[in-house]
Amino acid sequence: MNHLERKTLIVGNWKMHLSVHQSSLLVHRLTERIKVHRNVEVILAPSMLALQPLSLEMDHRRFQLCAQDAYPKDEGGYTGEVSFAMLGSLVQYCIVGHSARRIYFGETLEMVRDKVEAAVRNGISPIVCIGETKQDRDAGQSRQVIHDQLTTALMNVTSRDLEKVVLVYEPVWAISTFDGIIAKPDDVAKAVAYMRMQVRELYGERAAEKVSVLYGGSVNEHDVRSYLEVPGVDGALVGAASLNYHQFAAIVDEAYRIRIKAEA
Ligand code: 13P
Repeated sequence: MNHLERKTLIVGNWKMHLSVHQSSLLVHRLTERIKVHRNVEVILAPSMLALQPLSLEMDHRRFQLCAQDAYPKDEGGYTGEVSFAMLGSLVQYCIVGHSARRIYFGETLEMVRDKVEAAVRNGISPIVCIGETKQDRDAGQSRQVIHDQLTTALMNVTSRDLEKVVLVYEPVWAISTFDGIIAKPDDVAKAVAYMRMQVRELYGERAAEKVSVLYGGSVNEHDVRSYLEVPGVDGALVGAASLNYHQFAAIVDEAYRIRIKAEA
């Protein structure tokens, strides 16, 4: 399978930033700057509060909406939570297992597994974040961590449902709010190849080629190209740089250029 059969996905994770008004303004600015390309999907992950208003006002040909997290039970006495079932009609994607959730909120492998399953059950594509900490890396445990996170997350996903799943290699040490060490494209290539190999072992060759795998960790308009050119990388999960419309639009532009050149 040619990698061009997979779309390029650029995801902006706004984390706990921007009020509803600021979110609206950012979408407005991005709408002026971002063109539509059938093979490049631009996915925005604002705060939970901004999802509904943005959904009503944004151009759905240009952007897809993504939640940053949700609760795996469909309904019940879970005060303070929002379920995937509730988000089903609002978002196409939901980030699952982001390292901030694993680290600050004690999200376990099993919780991530249940969220992936709930997302798929409710017609939402989970964007599953996989990545080792600096401590894991220093201890030579990177592969073990990637293996454990990936295999548990996909435990209840059938091969048919795997088509809805997006995987991200997002090493914690590379995220701007953690250690912010710039990952070498070679290291990203090795980790992504390892992730595809895991998928191959679980679901076979065809699935391993079809599944989308993104890279995340301090991606900006200057280094995005070096990651998008890594074989097997289908896009980027962008944090800090997605809050600035110049930077985010420039990242999307790079994705267009690479795509147009490859398709020519
Ligand atoms: P930065 O791009 O700010 O490193 O954030 C990455 C991230 O956590 C995206 O989910």
